[in-house]
Amino acid sequence: MQRTLLCFGLGYTAERLVRRLLGAGWRGRGTARDPARLEALARLGVEALPFERGRPLPGAAFEGVTHVLSSVPPDDDGDPVFDEHQAHLRRVPWLGYLSSTAVYGDQRGAWVDASTPVALLPPPGPRGRARLLAETDWRALGAHVFRLAGLYGPGRSALDAVRAGRARRLDKPGHVFSRIHVDDVVTALIAALDRPAPGGVWDLADEAPSPHAEVVAYACELLGVPPPPLEPWTEAAPTLSPGLLEFYAECRRVSGAGTRTALGVSLAYPDHRAGLRAILEAEARERPPR
Ligand SMILES: NC(=O)c1ccc[n+]([C@@H]2O[C@H](COP(=O)([O-])OP(=O)(O)OC[C@H]3O[C@@H](n4cnc5c(N)ncnc54)[C@H](OP(=O)(O)O)[C@@H]3O)[C@@H](O)[C@H]2O)c1
Repeated sequence: MQRTLLCFGLGYTAERLVRRLLGAGWRGRGTARDPARLEALARLGVEALPFERGRPLPGAAFEGVTHVLSSVPPDDDGDPVFDEHQAHLRRVPWLGYLSSTAVYGDQRGAWVDASTPVALLPPPGPRGRARLLAETDWRALGAHVFRLAGLYGPGRSALDAVRAGRARRLDKPGHVFSRIHVDDVVTALIAALDRPAPGGVWDLADEAPSPHAEVVAYACELLGVPPPPLEPWTEAAPTLSPGLLEFYAECRRVSGAGTRTALGVSLAYPDHRAGLRAILEAEARERPPR
Protein backbone atom coordinates (compact mmCIF):
# COMPACT_ATOMS: atom_id res chain seq x y z
CA MET A 1 0.00 0.00 0.00
CA GLN A 2 1.27 3.47 -0.86
CA ARG A 3 2.15 5.34 2.32
CA THR A 4 0.46 8.70 2.79
CA LEU A 5 1.65 11.39 5.19
CA LEU A 6 -0.71 14.15 6.31
CA CYS A 7 1.17 17.12 7.79
CA PHE A 8 -0.77 19.53 9.97
CA GLY A 9 1.13 22.81 9.50
CA LEU A 10 3.33 21.96 6.53
CA GLY A 11 6.03 24.48 7.44
CA TYR A 12 9.83 24.66 7.30
CA THR A 13 10.74 21.23 8.73
CA ALA A 14 7.76 19.32 7.36
CA GLU A 15 8.42 20.64 3.86
CA ARG A 16 11.97 19.28 3.90
CA LEU A 17 10.64 15.95 5.17
CA VAL A 18 7.89 15.79 2.54
CA ARG A 19 10.30 16.58 -0.30
CA ARG A 20 12.37 13.54 0.75
CA LEU A 21 9.33 11.27 1.12
CA LEU A 22 7.72 12.27 -2.21
CA GLY A 23 11.01 11.29 -3.84
CA ALA A 24 10.69 7.89 -2.15
CA GLY A 25 7.20 7.18 -3.48
CA TRP A 26 5.05 8.50 -0.63
CA ARG A 27 1.93 10.60 -1.12
CA GLY A 28 1.68 13.86 0.79
CA ARG A 29 -1.11 16.01 2.18
CA GLY A 30 -0.55 19.15 4.17
CA THR A 31 -2.27 22.09 5.75
CA ALA A 32 -1.62 25.82 5.90
CA ARG A 33 -3.68 28.90 6.66
CA ASP A 34 -2.35 31.33 4.09
CA PRO A 35 -3.80 30.92 0.54
CA ALA A 36 -0.42 31.72 -1.03
CA ARG A 37 1.22 29.01 1.05
CA LEU A 38 -1.51 26.56 0.00
CA GLU A 39 -0.70 27.30 -3.65
CA ALA A 40 3.01 26.76 -2.98
CA LEU A 41 2.26 23.39 -1.34
CA ALA A 42 0.17 22.30 -4.34
CA ARG A 43 3.12 23.16 -6.62
CA LEU A 44 5.31 20.96 -4.42
CA GLY A 45 3.06 18.01 -5.29
CA VAL A 46 1.06 17.65 -2.10
CA GLU A 47 -2.68 17.89 -1.64
CA ALA A 48 -2.96 21.24 0.12
CA LEU A 49 -5.79 21.82 2.59
CA PRO A 50 -6.77 24.83 4.73
CA PHE A 51 -6.85 24.09 8.46
CA GLU A 52 -7.14 26.14 11.63
CA ARG A 53 -9.11 26.04 14.88
CA GLY A 54 -12.79 26.34 13.95
CA ARG A 55 -12.03 25.25 10.36
CA PRO A 56 -11.36 21.49 10.60
CA LEU A 57 -10.52 19.23 7.70
CA PRO A 58 -13.30 17.19 6.07
CA GLY A 59 -13.24 13.54 7.20
CA ALA A 60 -12.26 12.55 3.64
CA ALA A 61 -8.86 14.20 4.20
CA PHE A 62 -7.96 11.23 6.43
CA GLU A 63 -8.82 8.58 3.82
CA GLY A 64 -5.77 6.44 3.04
CA VAL A 65 -3.63 8.36 5.56
CA THR A 66 -1.06 6.05 7.15
CA HIS A 67 0.98 8.72 8.96
CA VAL A 68 0.23 12.13 10.52
CA LEU A 69 2.82 14.69 11.62
CA SER A 70 1.84 17.92 13.39
CA SER A 71 3.99 21.06 13.43
CA VAL A 72 1.19 23.27 14.69
CA PRO A 73 2.21 24.92 17.98
CA PRO A 74 -0.30 25.25 20.81
CA ASP A 75 -2.48 28.37 20.79
CA ASP A 76 -4.08 30.09 23.80
CA ASP A 77 -6.79 27.41 23.98
CA GLY A 78 -4.58 24.32 23.63
CA ASP A 79 -3.64 22.19 20.64
CA PRO A 80 -5.83 23.05 17.63
CA VAL A 81 -5.16 19.77 15.82
CA PHE A 82 -5.91 17.58 18.82
CA ASP A 83 -9.00 19.60 19.69
CA GLU A 84 -10.46 19.41 16.17
CA HIS A 85 -9.41 15.92 15.13
CA GLN A 86 -8.69 13.59 18.04
CA ALA A 87 -11.33 11.11 16.86
CA HIS A 88 -9.75 10.92 13.39
CA LEU A 89 -6.22 10.76 14.79
CA ARG A 90 -7.04 7.70 16.90
CA ARG A 91 -7.50 5.70 13.70
CA VAL A 92 -4.17 6.65 12.06
CA PRO A 93 -1.46 3.97 12.42
CA TRP A 94 1.51 6.37 12.99
CA LEU A 95 1.33 9.79 14.65
CA GLY A 96 4.16 12.27 15.19
CA TYR A 97 4.16 15.55 17.11
CA LEU A 98 6.92 18.18 16.78
CA SER A 99 7.42 19.59 20.27
CA SER A 100 10.08 21.73 21.87
CA THR A 101 12.83 21.35 24.43
CA ALA A 102 11.08 24.27 26.20
CA VAL A 103 9.28 21.53 28.17
CA TYR A 104 12.49 21.12 30.22
CA GLY A 105 12.29 24.72 31.47
CA ASP A 106 15.32 26.21 33.19
CA GLN A 107 17.85 23.55 34.24
CA ARG A 108 20.64 26.02 35.19
CA GLY A 109 22.81 24.71 32.38
CA ALA A 110 22.49 21.00 33.28
CA TRP A 111 22.25 18.27 30.65
CA VAL A 112 18.72 16.97 30.04
CA ASP A 113 17.12 14.26 27.91
CA ALA A 114 13.89 12.30 27.71
CA SER A 115 14.74 10.58 31.02
CA THR A 116 14.69 13.97 32.83
CA PRO A 117 11.42 14.40 34.72
CA VAL A 118 9.27 17.19 33.30
CA ALA A 119 6.27 18.53 35.15
CA LEU A 120 3.87 21.45 35.17
CA LEU A 121 5.06 22.28 38.69
CA PRO A 122 7.42 24.02 39.00
CA PRO A 123 6.26 25.53 35.70
CA PRO A 124 8.75 25.27 32.83
CA GLY A 125 7.63 28.73 31.60
CA PRO A 126 4.55 29.63 29.51
CA ARG A 127 5.87 28.13 26.25
CA GLY A 128 7.02 24.96 27.96
CA ARG A 129 3.78 24.59 29.88
CA ALA A 130 1.61 24.81 26.75
CA ARG A 131 3.88 22.32 25.00
CA LEU A 132 3.78 19.88 27.86
CA LEU A 133 -0.02 19.93 27.85
CA ALA A 134 -0.08 19.39 24.07
CA GLU A 135 2.46 16.56 24.35
CA THR A 136 0.32 14.87 26.98
CA ASP A 137 -2.70 14.93 24.66
CA TRP A 138 -0.73 13.56 21.69
CA ARG A 139 1.04 10.86 23.72
CA ALA A 140 -2.34 9.68 24.98
CA LEU A 141 -3.15 9.02 21.30
CA GLY A 142 0.08 7.02 20.93
CA ALA A 143 2.03 9.74 19.11
CA HIS A 144 5.80 9.87 18.78
CA VAL A 145 6.93 13.15 20.36
CA PHE A 146 10.01 14.90 18.98
CA ARG A 147 11.46 17.62 21.23
CA LEU A 148 13.35 20.05 18.98
CA ALA A 149 16.14 22.29 20.21
CA GLY A 150 16.66 25.66 18.48
CA LEU A 151 16.06 24.93 14.82
CA TYR A 152 18.28 26.31 12.06
CA GLY A 153 19.05 25.54 8.45
CA PRO A 154 19.07 27.06 4.96
CA GLY A 155 17.21 30.38 4.95
CA ARG A 156 16.87 30.33 8.76
CA SER A 157 20.23 30.76 10.44
CA ALA A 158 22.62 33.26 11.98
CA LEU A 159 23.95 33.84 8.45
CA ASP A 160 20.57 35.33 7.46
CA ALA A 161 20.39 37.41 10.66
CA VAL A 162 23.87 38.84 10.04
CA ARG A 163 23.08 39.65 6.41
CA ALA A 164 19.82 41.35 7.45
CA GLY A 165 21.70 43.44 10.03
CA ARG A 166 19.58 42.12 12.91
CA ALA A 167 22.15 39.85 14.60
CA ARG A 168 23.13 40.82 18.15
CA ARG A 169 25.67 39.36 20.54
CA LEU A 170 24.32 39.40 24.08
CA ASP A 171 26.82 38.56 26.78
CA LYS A 172 24.92 36.62 29.44
CA PRO A 173 27.69 34.79 31.32
CA GLY A 174 27.27 31.02 31.41
CA HIS A 175 24.22 31.04 29.11
CA VAL A 176 23.99 28.49 26.28
CA PHE A 177 21.39 27.30 23.79
CA SER A 178 21.08 23.84 22.23
CA ARG A 179 20.46 23.69 18.48
CA ILE A 180 19.66 21.26 15.70
CA HIS A 181 20.05 21.53 11.93
CA VAL A 182 16.73 20.95 10.13
CA ASP A 183 18.16 18.15 7.98
CA ASP A 184 19.24 16.24 11.10
CA VAL A 185 15.63 16.55 12.29
CA VAL A 186 14.42 15.12 8.97
CA THR A 187 16.87 12.20 9.18
CA ALA A 188 15.58 11.33 12.66
CA LEU A 189 11.94 11.62 11.56
CA ILE A 190 12.49 9.28 8.62
CA ALA A 191 14.18 6.74 10.90
CA ALA A 192 11.28 6.98 13.36
CA LEU A 193 8.73 6.29 10.60
CA ASP A 194 10.26 2.84 10.24
CA ARG A 195 10.70 2.11 13.97
CA PRO A 196 7.32 2.70 15.55
CA ALA A 197 7.40 3.30 19.31
CA PRO A 198 4.02 4.86 20.14
CA GLY A 199 4.13 7.32 23.03
CA GLY A 200 7.93 7.57 22.80
CA VAL A 201 9.85 10.83 23.28
CA TRP A 202 12.87 11.76 21.16
CA ASP A 203 15.28 14.64 21.84
CA LEU A 204 16.64 16.32 18.74
CA ALA A 205 19.72 18.40 19.51
CA ASP A 206 23.31 18.56 18.28
CA GLU A 207 26.35 17.87 20.45
CA ALA A 208 27.46 21.44 21.12
CA PRO A 209 25.23 23.70 23.21
CA SER A 210 26.84 27.12 22.99
CA PRO A 211 26.29 30.83 23.59
CA HIS A 212 24.30 32.58 20.85
CA ALA A 213 27.03 35.23 20.66
CA GLU A 214 29.52 32.53 19.61
CA VAL A 215 27.24 31.40 16.76
CA VAL A 216 26.83 34.98 15.51
CA ALA A 217 30.61 35.52 15.68
CA TYR A 218 31.21 32.39 13.60
CA ALA A 219 28.57 33.44 11.04
CA CYS A 220 30.35 36.80 10.73
CA GLU A 221 33.70 35.05 10.31
CA LEU A 222 32.26 32.90 7.48
CA LEU A 223 30.77 35.96 5.80
CA GLY A 224 33.95 37.99 6.25
CA VAL A 225 32.29 40.81 8.17
CA PRO A 226 33.12 42.24 11.61
CA PRO A 227 30.97 40.81 14.43
CA PRO A 228 28.49 43.13 16.17
CA PRO A 229 29.71 44.38 19.56
CA LEU A 230 29.26 42.16 22.60
CA GLU A 231 26.44 43.75 24.67
CA PRO A 232 26.58 43.30 28.45
CA TRP A 233 23.45 41.45 29.64
CA THR A 234 22.41 44.13 32.14
CA GLU A 235 22.30 46.75 29.37
CA ALA A 236 20.72 44.50 26.72
CA ALA A 237 17.98 42.83 28.81
CA PRO A 238 15.67 45.91 29.06
CA THR A 239 15.67 46.16 25.23
CA LEU A 240 14.49 42.58 24.61
CA SER A 241 10.96 41.41 23.78
CA PRO A 242 9.14 39.29 26.39
CA GLY A 243 9.58 36.26 24.12
CA LEU A 244 13.35 36.69 23.89
CA LEU A 245 13.59 37.36 27.63
CA GLU A 246 11.81 34.04 28.19
CA PHE A 247 14.35 32.27 25.98
CA TYR A 248 17.26 33.79 27.89
CA ALA A 249 15.65 33.07 31.29
CA GLU A 250 16.13 29.35 30.65
CA CYS A 251 19.44 27.54 30.31
CA ARG A 252 19.85 23.81 29.60
CA ARG A 253 22.03 21.49 27.59
CA VAL A 254 19.95 18.99 25.63
CA SER A 255 21.43 15.59 24.84
CA GLY A 256 20.18 13.83 21.72
CA ALA A 257 22.60 10.92 22.18
CA GLY A 258 19.98 8.46 23.46
CA THR A 259 17.65 9.32 20.61
CA ARG A 260 20.36 8.82 18.01
CA THR A 261 21.27 5.41 19.44
CA ALA A 262 17.63 4.32 19.60
CA LEU A 263 16.90 5.46 16.04
CA GLY A 264 20.24 4.31 14.61
CA VAL A 265 21.08 7.72 13.16
CA SER A 266 24.05 10.08 13.40
CA LEU A 267 24.34 13.82 13.06
CA ALA A 268 25.37 15.30 9.71
CA TYR A 269 25.98 18.57 11.59
CA PRO A 270 27.28 17.85 15.12
CA ASP A 271 27.70 21.57 15.88
CA HIS A 272 26.71 24.98 14.52
CA ARG A 273 30.09 25.44 12.85
CA ALA A 274 29.56 22.39 10.61
CA GLY A 275 25.95 23.39 9.98
CA LEU A 276 26.68 27.00 9.04
CA ARG A 277 29.60 26.02 6.77
CA ALA A 278 27.34 23.55 4.93
CA ILE A 279 24.60 26.16 4.46
CA LEU A 280 27.08 28.62 2.98
CA GLU A 281 28.57 25.97 0.69
CA ALA A 282 25.10 24.94 -0.53
CA GLU A 283 24.23 28.59 -1.23
CA ALA A 284 27.41 28.95 -3.30
CA ARG A 285 26.54 25.82 -5.32
CA GLU A 286 22.97 26.99 -5.95
CA ARG A 287 23.93 30.57 -6.94
CA PRO A 288 23.58 31.02 -10.71
CA PRO A 289 26.96 31.65 -12.41
CA ARG A 290 27.55 35.31 -13.34
N1 LIG B 1 12.08 27.26 15.43
C1 LIG B 1 12.58 26.67 16.50
O1 LIG B 1 13.70 26.97 16.94
C2 LIG B 1 11.80 25.60 17.19
C3 LIG B 1 12.34 25.00 18.31
C4 LIG B 1 11.62 24.00 18.94
C5 LIG B 1 10.38 23.63 18.47
N2 LIG B 1 9.85 24.25 17.40
C6 LIG B 1 8.54 23.80 16.92
O2 LIG B 1 8.74 22.76 15.99
C7 LIG B 1 7.66 22.77 15.04
C8 LIG B 1 8.24 22.84 13.64
O3 LIG B 1 8.93 24.05 13.48
P1 LIG B 1 9.01 24.71 12.04
O4 LIG B 1 9.87 25.91 12.21
O5 LIG B 1 9.33 23.69 11.04
O6 LIG B 1 7.50 25.16 11.86
P2 LIG B 1 6.94 26.37 10.99
O7 LIG B 1 7.73 26.55 9.75
O8 LIG B 1 6.75 27.54 11.89
O9 LIG B 1 5.53 25.76 10.59
C9 LIG B 1 4.47 25.72 11.48
C10 LIG B 1 3.25 25.33 10.68
O10 LIG B 1 2.13 25.32 11.57
C11 LIG B 1 1.10 26.14 11.02
N3 LIG B 1 0.42 26.82 12.11
C12 LIG B 1 0.98 27.61 13.05
N4 LIG B 1 0.04 28.00 13.95
C13 LIG B 1 -1.12 27.45 13.53
C14 LIG B 1 -2.44 27.49 14.02
N5 LIG B 1 -2.73 28.17 15.13
N6 LIG B 1 -3.40 26.82 13.35
C15 LIG B 1 -3.11 26.14 12.23
N7 LIG B 1 -1.87 26.05 11.70
C16 LIG B 1 -0.89 26.71 12.35
C17 LIG B 1 1.79 27.11 10.10
O11 LIG B 1 0.85 27.46 9.13
P3 LIG B 1 0.89 28.83 8.30
O12 LIG B 1 1.82 28.54 7.16
O13 LIG B 1 -0.49 29.02 7.90
O14 LIG B 1 1.40 29.87 9.27
C18 LIG B 1 2.95 26.29 9.56
O15 LIG B 1 2.53 25.54 8.45
C19 LIG B 1 6.76 23.95 15.40
O16 LIG B 1 5.72 23.51 16.24
C20 LIG B 1 7.70 24.84 16.20
O17 LIG B 1 6.99 25.67 17.09
C21 LIG B 1 10.54 25.20 16.73
